[in-house]
Amino acid sequence: MSSYYFSDHFTWGAATASYQIEGAHDLDGKGESIWDRFSHTPGTTWNGETGDVACDHYHQYEEDLKLISAIGLNSYRFSISWPRIFPAGGGKPNKKGLDFYRRLVEELNRSNIKAAVTLYHWDLPQVLQDKGGWNNRDTARYFADYAAYLYEYLDLPVDMWITINEPWVIAVLGHAFGVHAPGITDFNVALQVSHNLLLGHGLAVKAFREAKRVGETIGITLNLTPVQPLTDSAADIEAASRSDGFMNRWFLDPLFRGSYPKDMVEIFSRTFSLPLTEKDDAAIIAEPIDFLGINNYTRVLVEASGDENAFMGNPVNPPDAEYTEMGWEVYPRGIYELLTRVNRDYSTLPLYITENGAAFPDELQKDGTVDDPRRINYLQAYLHETWKALEEGIPLKGYYVWSLMDNYEWAFGYSKRFGLIYIDFENRKRYLKNSAYWYKKVISRNGLEL
Ligand code: FCB
Repeated sequence: MSSYYFSDHFTWGAATASYQIEGAHDLDGKGESIWDRFSHTPGTTWNGETGDVACDHYHQYEEDLKLISAIGLNSYRFSISWPRIFPAGGGKPNKKGLDFYRRLVEELNRSNIKAAVTLYHWDLPQVLQDKGGWNNRDTARYFADYAAYLYEYLDLPVDMWITINEPWVIAVLGHAFGVHAPGITDFNVALQVSHNLLLGHGLAVKAFREAKRVGETIGITLNLTPVQPLTDSAADIEAASRSDGFMNRWFLDPLFRGSYPKDMVEIFSRTFSLPLTEKDDAAIIAEPIDFLGINNYTRVLVEASGDENAFMGNPVNPPDAEYTEMGWEVYPRGIYELLTRVNRDYSTLPLYITENGAAFPDELQKDGTVDDPRRINYLQAYLHETWKALEEGIPLKGYYVWSLMDNYEWAFGYSKRFGLIYIDFENRKRYLKNSAYWYKKVISRNGLEL
């Protein structure tokens, strides 16, 4: 057995998102979100499932906080539902919505657990979608106003603020592939949305600086995916470089270099209209942040598609690899590759893994136990690679498992279980999986034993 210790003050956490766990979709003054609308539209989600009740966390948050303490998390990452705070997108705030998050943060503070707050994890107020949603530049401004309201009135210590979770997923899955809310299938819109999201992020960072929240930090979370060519042919290498441009550089470059990557601007402009931008946008988007959050689950292996205008190669699934229930390849080395690359090519800022984890077909036993060795192996392997990056001096400050508990996996409904905590969706009882007990040990020894 060897021990792999993490740095002093390393933050061990787990993450969730409002629509995936809260339920109470129309309670206490909450407005409709685009996910309420989308999931209630026939044919959009697995079995027509919705987040109406989800894990019922809105009512059971006290028990969930006990479980967070039982696992020994140092930090809990959750998101705030914008339409719970501003049912009409802006204007008159809903006090009951704010109160819910104040109670949550208060309890976290009392238990010495750091709060990591995501401001936008995909549940846009539907009223703003009716005005064009993220395709409308005004939404960026509304987002910054909503953020500024929280900086002022969520007047309790928050360790980290994350503006937007995964702009790529919002833009592409929501507006090009249409498999997420709001279900739009127009790549031109997706490009404009990507820009407006980044703009909203930058404006929310500016508002944060003005709010002067002492000792607190702000950043953004990107889903980053290492992309590799299937062979070393020039065509596959070019396909991998474009796919990387589309999935990673399209967001990293404007945030850290102040402009969109030239090769992608050229490739996109062959087939699509580039986003409309204004003079100061690039500077606003590149507004300095305190950390970068990275979500990583897998990698993408691609081969050339033969289409010279394609911005993405054809993904290939290596036959002898392990896959999770999402069909995602288990590729632990990818997390090391990402951490070292971001640090080398983009920024020496503190980094956080804000999500990493896996869905497996867990089963609750009669005695209330859930044995999930594949999840433990997955997390262990990814953490081992994370440790290697740390050993090389990469300023990684923390790691969050996705997810604290099984929850509503968007269009997949309740069919994918990612949690450290098992939820019986018949009665919404909670059970710690073996991976939760394993993680508790990792946290208490601040490292792995392999
Ligand atoms: C990420 C999302 C998160 C969850 C995981 C599996 O893309 O941020 O909400 O769905 O994937």
